[in-house]
Amino acid sequence: MKARIVYASMTGNDEDMADILEEDLQDYGFDVETSDIGFTDPSDYLESDLCVLVTYTYGEGVMTDELQDFYDEMSELDLTGKKFAVMGSGDKVYGTAYCQNVFDFEKLFKKLGAIEVAKPVTIEQSPDEAAIALIDAAAQEMNDALNG
Ligand SMILES: Cc1cc2nc3c(=O)[nH]c(=O)nc-3n(C[C@H](O)[C@H](O)[C@H](O)COP(=O)(O)O)c2cc1C
Repeated sequence: MKARIVYASMTGNDEDMADILEEDLQDYGFDVETSDIGFTDPSDYLESDLCVLVTYTYGEGVMTDELQDFYDEMSELDLTGKKFAVMGSGDKVYGTAYCQNVFDFEKLFKKLGAIEVAKPVTIEQSPDEAAIALIDAAAQEMNDALNG
């Protein structure tokens, strides 16, 4: 099974999440490609069985340019039947905007016809042990859905 993990990260927290997930999925036997959102064409998702987006949220949830560009291009795709999952890092001080961009992309995947195979994982700042356990559990859900 092929998995594509696209991450958006300014200070490394979401990149760390993506790396943890990549290792988990490789352990389950997935052929994983992980890439920075700024250097990824959303159509790469079409080549994958499992599509994952890992993203920060900055500025009260208003998308940065790199997120918005990817979002707009992705909106043109038909992802009917593709399996997907989203996760990301934020900060609860931002209240209702906590990890908002994670949920923006969750909505978009659904709108494009994709099927969610793991609950969104939202964590604060860099992944600690508890956060790693959440990522591991999500990876297991993804594996169960695709290889189970
Ligand atoms: C200026 C600024 C604005 C932020 N706005 C939000 C926000 O609206 N919602 C949120 O959940 N986190 C917000 N954060 C927290 C970041 O999303 C969080 O630090 C995250 O771990 C950064 O991920 P990265 O290291 O992958 O870039 C903000 C942080 C900064 C510095």
